[in-house]
Amino acid sequence: MDSNKRPEDMERITTPELANAFIDEQVDAIRAQVGDQKVLLALSGGVDSSVVAALLIKAIGKQLICVHVNHGLMRKGESEQVVDVFQNQLDANLVYVDATDRFLELLDGVAEPEAKRKIIGAEFIRVFEEEARKVGDEVSFLAQGTIYPDILESDGVKAHHNVGGLPDDLQFELCEPVKLLYKDEVRVIGRELGLPESMVERQPFPGPGLGVRCLGAITRDRLGALREADAILREEFAAAGLEGKVWQYFVSVPDFRATGVRDGVRAFEWPAIIRAVNTVDAMTAEVPELDWALLKKITARILDEVPGICRVVYDLTPKPIGTIEWE
Ligand code: XMP
Repeated sequence: MDSNKRPEDMERITTPELANAFIDEQVDAIRAQVGDQKVLLALSGGVDSSVVAALLIKAIGKQLICVHVNHGLMRKGESEQVVDVFQNQLDANLVYVDATDRFLELLDGVAEPEAKRKIIGAEFIRVFEEEARKVGDEVSFLAQGTIYPDILESDGVKAHHNVGGLPDDLQFELCEPVKLLYKDEVRVIGRELGLPESMVERQPFPGPGLGVRCLGAITRDRLGALREADAILREEFAAAGLEGKVWQYFVSVPDFRATGVRDGVRAFEWPAIIRAVNTVDAMTAEVPELDWALLKKITARILDEVPGICRVVYDLTPKPIGTIEWE
């Protein structure tokens, strides 16, 4: 049987009972596969890697070594949440690497979006590789949050999609316990494993993170303003019950300024661009008709609370022609 093919009669996991049955089955399978060996996992904080981490912690506890690389381009509170949930609540064996300075130094003055993506992707692999080398001798398995759409999209050939290429001399066997599941099933399982709702319902977040939302050459002050404005947007969407209802929503901050007046004094500060989209597969996307009062509240809070922002706009462009991200 092809282990990368979902059996046609496999029931869709939609209830806590089905999720718990899957969890029990996988705990046994993981223990059988791994024995007393150690397993390494790149824990991004996204749904898939978080659920795989929680599943492995249940199965093998501290035999799992989670590595969370904070590239300094995470959203507000995200790396802290990873540490809180996995280290404090689940008592995981977690290696937390704050690589903010390394990333921001490499990105200094780089304005071209694809060049930024390449730098962030390559450096991410370098940092993870360094950590993998530190524990390489004791580790035999690499766990990944591969899910079924990843396999379908890549025809089963994309083996290391989450961590990119690891060095050839580090030979790990793969452990991919949710590779036959769809995203909604992974969420049901995450909930049963006790992960917080904000982690289970986390919207898609690009690998390069806020790096492609701090438009043009990234500066620390503008990145800080972006992070605060984005946090306000997420807080207000959650308060309005839109978490999990609007597919993706975020703020981008461009590298030019707009004129304003603040307390009778001329201000010359950045605009914050709100982007919200609904989509099925991210290939096309529609812009939702957001409640006017919600937009006004978000605007007022960003203008009031975020230093450096003096204007807020809502991007009405569907995809096509506008991509979801600005860069
Ligand atoms: P676009 O901007 O191409 O985005 O319409 C489609 C979806 O992909 C996400 N995205 C990325 N994800 N690395 C990622 O892992 C990237 O470089 C990247 N660029 C865009 C985007 O957030 C949206 O969900």
